[in-house]
Amino acid sequence: MRAVGVHGGKGSADALYIEDNVADPAAVDERIVVRIKAFGLNRMDIMQREDRYPYKLLPESGPIMGVEFSGLVEELGPACKGDFQVGQRVFGLAYGGAYAEKISVSERMLMHMPDHLGFEEAAGIPETFFTALQAVHLVGGMQPGQSVLIHAGASGVGQAAIQIARQAGASVIFATAGTDAKCQLCRQLGADHAVNYKDTNAPDFAEVVARETNSRGVDLIIDLVGQSYWHRNTKSAAMEGKIVIVAAMSGSVVEGFDLRALLNKRLSVLATTLRTRDAAYQAQLRDVFVERVLQHLASKPSPADETMGVTVDEVFSWQQVGEAHKKMEANVNAGKLICLVD
Ligand SMILES: NC(=O)c1ccc[n+]([C@@H]2O[C@H](COP(=O)([O-])OP(=O)(O)OC[C@H]3O[C@@H](n4cnc5c(N)ncnc54)[C@H](OP(=O)(O)O)[C@@H]3O)[C@@H](O)[C@H]2O)c1
Repeated sequence: MRAVGVHGGKGSADALYIEDNVADPAAVDERIVVRIKAFGLNRMDIMQREDRYPYKLLPESGPIMGVEFSGLVEELGPACKGDFQVGQRVFGLAYGGAYAEKISVSERMLMHMPDHLGFEEAAGIPETFFTALQAVHLVGGMQPGQSVLIHAGASGVGQAAIQIARQAGASVIFATAGTDAKCQLCRQLGADHAVNYKDTNAPDFAEVVARETNSRGVDLIIDLVGQSYWHRNTKSAAMEGKIVIVAAMSGSVVEGFDLRALLNKRLSVLATTLRTRDAAYQAQLRDVFVERVLQHLASKPSPADETMGVTVDEVFSWQQVGEAHKKMEANVNAGKLICLVD
């Protein structure tokens, strides 16, 4: 089969190319081979491309990038027990290998594609929604009536987190994003207040949270930004609030970190990753997704009718995967970047 390779093993977006004669994946045990129609881009792909992915990859990650895809079932392993059949439209999460014509994944990580979703949309759902589900529910333990602050609200993970928090009955949702258009998108998805953190004339998110909560603060903060928001996060958290760290896009070292900021409010700081989780955990997340999200997926999501969905920022041919990587590196996408496999 063909798959996306990196000239020299690591490099810039320009080093990406379509490689021929890559070994086909096999449908062994309870695994299913899917012919990939589309795959979604994620920031970890950039780190993997540059050979600086910070976590130890599980053996089944393999050298090919890509953790989410949509496509058609091509072959079932002999131990498959699920209800998948050859030719069905499916989407799913993988440890790696989605930048390719075919992938082999456990049937526990596959889901049937709703009829009204296209391959482009479905390919952009698993990584962001599974990550947001674990941050809001499994790790953050959000309860109905709680207030939530979601940073990088227009990112793929941020958009999913806003929708999941809204569906879970958040009393008020705050979001931050870097343009007015991204803030507007956050509001459309269910945020009550969206703060453009780059607008020097607008109040800071900590001021908005204090103003709107009568200085009580928020119960749960989903943080993808890290360093630059740490002090304002502890300021914005309510008594016994939780801060769930999903990423540290602004940096991971916090100057002047005073433990008293945690002690004073009895805060919990939690951190989570998805790709390094074992197969049983990921399968559990898939079940939570099927229960809480799958039936609500729509092409045009709206909090008014409780539908959820993914915003596809741009669809590329996989021949242009380097351009897609460059767009993500420039931070200009508001939603998923998708590549179609021809
Ligand atoms: N822990 C996990 O399991 C897990 C899983 C998936 C993803 N992640 C991580 O979560 C992060 C977001 O992923 P994604 O796929 O949702 O990203 P994405 O859709 O590409 O969106 C990222 C957005 O974050 C904002 N941003 C970037 N740098 C920033 C900074 N220094 N300060 C404030 N905002 C910044 C930018 O939007 P603005 O215009 O708003 O600045 C950017 O467009 C990545 O770091 C990714 O690796 C973690």
